[in-house]
Amino acid sequence: MPRTCLSVILAAGEGTRMKSSRAKVLHEVAGLPMVAHAVLAAKAAGTDAVALVTGRDAEAVEKAARAVAPQSTVHVQAERLGTAHAVLAARASIEPGFDDLLILFGDTPLVRSQTLEAARAVLAEGADICVVGFRTADPTGYGRLIEREGDVIAIREEKDASADEKKIGFCNAGIMAVRGETVLSLLDAVGNNNAKGEYYLTDIVAIARERGGVVKAIEAGAEEVLGVNNRVELAAVEAIWQDRKRREAMLAGATLIAPETVFFSFDTALGLDVVVEPNVVFGLGVVVADGVAIHAFSHLEGAKLARGTSVGPYARLRPGTDLGEGAKVGNFCETKNARIEAGAKVNHLSYIGDARIGSNTNVGAGTITCNYDGLNKWFTDIGANVFVGSDTALVAPVSVADGAFIGSGSVITEDVPADALAIARSRQVVKEGRAVEIRARTAAMKAQKSSKPA
Ligand code: UD1
Ligand code: MG
Repeated sequence: MPRTCLSVILAAGEGTRMKSSRAKVLHEVAGLPMVAHAVLAAKAAGTDAVALVTGRDAEAVEKAARAVAPQSTVHVQAERLGTAHAVLAARASIEPGFDDLLILFGDTPLVRSQTLEAARAVLAEGADICVVGFRTADPTGYGRLIEREGDVIAIREEKDASADEKKIGFCNAGIMAVRGETVLSLLDAVGNNNAKGEYYLTDIVAIARERGGVVKAIEAGAEEVLGVNNRVELAAVEAIWQDRKRREAMLAGATLIAPETVFFSFDTALGLDVVVEPNVVFGLGVVVADGVAIHAFSHLEGAKLARGTSVGPYARLRPGTDLGEGAKVGNFCETKNARIEAGAKVNHLSYIGDARIGSNTNVGAGTITCNYDGLNKWFTDIGANVFVGSDTALVAPVSVADGAFIGSGSVITEDVPADALAIARSRQVVKEGRAVEIRARTAAMKAQKSSKPA
C-alpha cells in the first residue's frame, strides 16, 4: 500500500517587506502565485490532500491554491503565533490521519517534488521526522540543525542560539516531513518560552527525540529552498526558475539560441525541434507543437501553435490565437482571438482580432480587422484561398467567402461572396502633365518667399 500524505502549506504571512497591497504568497513566479508553486510541488510528490493555512487575503490565497488543487481545505490562522501554531490551525485536516505529513512554506516556490519525495522516503524507512536542510556561508537568521551521530537532535532558532551554535552552516529550510500518527501530539507539546515568544515548529525535533523518536535531515540546494521576503528576492527566485525551465526546454528538444533572453511561464509547453530566437516572452497558456519557429522579439500569450508554424520577428500573439499547421504570422503583426488556419499567412504589419482566416489565405501587409465599434466586439470571417490586398480594413461583422479577392486599400463593410472581387476605394484619376505644372508653381512660391526681406 502506498503511504498516504497530507501537505500543509503555511501561507498566513503578512509579507510586510513586499510593500504590497496583496499577500506575499500571491506574487507570481513565472506567472503563477508562489503559493500555487508550493501546492504543485506537493502534488507532484504524491500528496493526497492539501491543507492551506491562510491569514492575510485569505480568500485570494485560497483561490490561487484551488486553481491548481481544487480539493484543498483552508484554515484561517487568525493570530500569527508561530509556525507550530500555524500547522495546528490545520488540525481538522490532520486529524483524519495520514501516513505522512509534509509541511511547506507558501513563500518558497522553487522546492522540487523530488526533494519532498526524498523526505517522505526517509519516513518510510522509519524516521519520525525528516527535516530539509541546506548549507550556506551566511546562515544568519535561519534555524540551525544540531546533529549527533547522523541524527538531528534539535533545531535552534537564530535568536535562541549560542555563539557556537550560530557557527553551524547547516540550516533548516522550513520544509519537513513528519509521521502523521505523532504529529499532533508533538505540536501540542510545543510551548512559546523562547526569545520570540512564538510556538516554533522546529521544537518538535527535540520533543520527538525526548520521546525516543528518530529525526533525520536531507540536504537540498540552497537555491531550491530560497524564501521570498521582498521583491529583490522575488526577482532572484524568478531568475532561478527561468534558468531551470530553459535547461528543461533545451534538454527536451527545443533550441534556444540565446536562452538567457527567453522567458517562460509555468505552463509553457514546447514540442520537439522548436527553435526560439533571442528575446522571446511566453506569457501564460502557450502551447507550441513540433517544428515551430519563433523568431526574435516576439511576445506570445494564450496561443496555440500547430506543427510547422512560424511567428515573428516582432509578432504579438494574444489570447485566443490558434495557428493551424504551417501558418505564418510575420513581423509587426498582432493577433487576438484569431484562428489562422493551415497554411494561411499574415506576414506584415497587420491586426487580426476576433477573426478566422481560412486555410491558404494570404493577408496582405497592413490589413486590419476593425473588430471594435467602441462598445462591442464583432467577428470577421475569411474563408480559404482568399487574397486580401494590402492595407485592407475589414469592418466587422463581415465575411469574405472562399476564393474571393480583395483589392488593396479597400474598406470592406459588406460580405464578399465566394470567388468575387471586391474593391472598396475611390477610383484613380490620372492628369497628364500636371506634375510639371505643380513643380513650376511650388518653385515660384519658394522664390517669392526667399526674396522677401526678413
Ligand atoms: C523559519 C524557521 C527557521 C527556518 C526558516 C527558513 C521556525 C520557528 N523557524 O523561520 O528554522 O530556518 O523558517 O526560512 O519555524 N507562518 C504562518 N503563521 C505563523 C508564523 C509563520 O503562516 O504564525 C508562515 C510564514 O508566512 C512563512 C513561514 O510560516 O511562510 C515561516 O515563518 P517565518 O516567520 O518566516 O519564520 P522564520 O523566522 O523565517
Ligand atoms: Mg522567514
